[in-house]
Amino acid sequence: MSTRVTLGSTGLSVSPVCYGSWQLSPRFWGKQPEDEVAGAMRRAFEVGVNFYDTADAYGEGYAEEVMGRALKGLPRKDLVIATKVFWHFHPDGRRYGDLSKEWILEECETSLKRLQMDYIDLYQCHSWDPLAQPEETAEALEKLKKQGKIRHYGVSNWSVEQVRLGRKHGTYETHQPFYSLIKRDIERDLLPYCQQENIGTLVYSPLHNGLLSGKYKGTESFDDFRKDHADFKGERFKKLCDAVTKAGEIGRVYGLTTVQLVVVCTLMHPGITSAIVGIKTPKQIEEAAAAMGKTISREDWNKVRGLLNV
Ligand SMILES: NC(=O)c1ccc[n+]([C@@H]2O[C@H](COP(=O)([O-])OP(=O)(O)OC[C@H]3O[C@@H](n4cnc5c(N)ncnc54)[C@H](OP(=O)(O)O)[C@@H]3O)[C@@H](O)[C@H]2O)c1
Repeated sequence: MSTRVTLGSTGLSVSPVCYGSWQLSPRFWGKQPEDEVAGAMRRAFEVGVNFYDTADAYGEGYAEEVMGRALKGLPRKDLVIATKVFWHFHPDGRRYGDLSKEWILEECETSLKRLQMDYIDLYQCHSWDPLAQPEETAEALEKLKKQGKIRHYGVSNWSVEQVRLGRKHGTYETHQPFYSLIKRDIERDLLPYCQQENIGTLVYSPLHNGLLSGKYKGTESFDDFRKDHADFKGERFKKLCDAVTKAGEIGRVYGLTTVQLVVVCTLMHPGITSAIVGIKTPKQIEEAAAAMGKTISREDWNKVRGLLNV
C-alpha cells in the first residue's frame, strides 16, 4: 500500500487515509474543541494526508467553516477536498433530503464560501433522494463542473442499482459507502461493482465509530450518539471489544497499533481506495496516517477478519 493512490477514473492522487470531519457535528459527537480539531486538520497534511472529507450537513456548515479556516494557507493544488450535498437544512433545525437542481446549485455556492475555496475537488451526493429526477441531479452537477466550481462528482450511501441509474445520466466517479471490518456487507455487491467500473471508493467509519480503535473494553458508556448504538451496548459491546483486543495482538508483530492494523486491513481490500477516518485530535490522525504504506501477510489479514467476524 503506497502513500498515494488514484481515485478511480477521477485520476486524483489521494492519500489512502482520508481525513474525516463528521466529528464537528455536535448533535452526534458533542462539542469538540475547535482549535484542537483545526490543529488536527493541519497536522494531517504534515503527516502525508492530502485528502479531506466533509459535508455541508456536518454541524449545518460548521465543519466546512472550520476546515476552510484550518487549511487556509496550505497550497490549494496539493489538497483534495471532498464535500457533500443532500440535506436541505434551515436555521430552525428543519432538514430534509433534496437533490433538486436548485438546491444543488445554491448549496454548492454556500459550501465554497464556507470552505473559502474557488473549487471543490469532489462533490458527493450524500444520500439518494427518491423525489429528485436522476436527470436533474446530474444536470446540476454537470453545470457546476463546466463552471469550474467542482472538478469531479460522486455519491454516498447509494445502492448498486441507484449508482447504475445515476450513471445513465451523469459521470459519477466515486462512491462513499459505510464499511468496517465488523460490517463488510458491501464486499458482496457494491465493492465488486465499483472495482469493475473503476469507481473510486472512499469508505467511511472504518474504525466502526471508534469501536475498532482498541481502546474500549466493552464496559464504557457514552454521552454522544453511540449511547443509542446497539454495538456499543451490553454483551454485544463486550464481545466485540474482546475480539478487537485479540485481533490487535496480530498487529503487534508488525509494530502496528490496533488502529493501524484496522486501517491496513481495510486498505488491503483491492476494492477500497481510501479509508475516511473520523478525527478529533492531532494524535489520532498521526496514528492513522502512519498506517499508510504498511501491509500484513495474507494469512494474518484473514485471521484478523476471522476474529472480527462476530
Ligand atoms: N457519507 C456518510 O454518510 C458518512 C457517515 C459517517 C461518516 N462519514 C465520514 O467518514 C468519517 C469517518 O467515519 P466515523 O467518524 O463514523 O468513524 P470512524 O473513523 O470509524 O471512527 C471515528 C472515531 O474513532 C475514534 N478514533 C479516531 N482515531 C483514533 C485513534 N487514532 N485512536 C483512538 N481512537 C480514534 C474517535 O472517537 P473517540 O475518540 O471518541 O472514540 C473518532 O471520533 C467521518 O468523519 C465523515 O467524514 C460519512
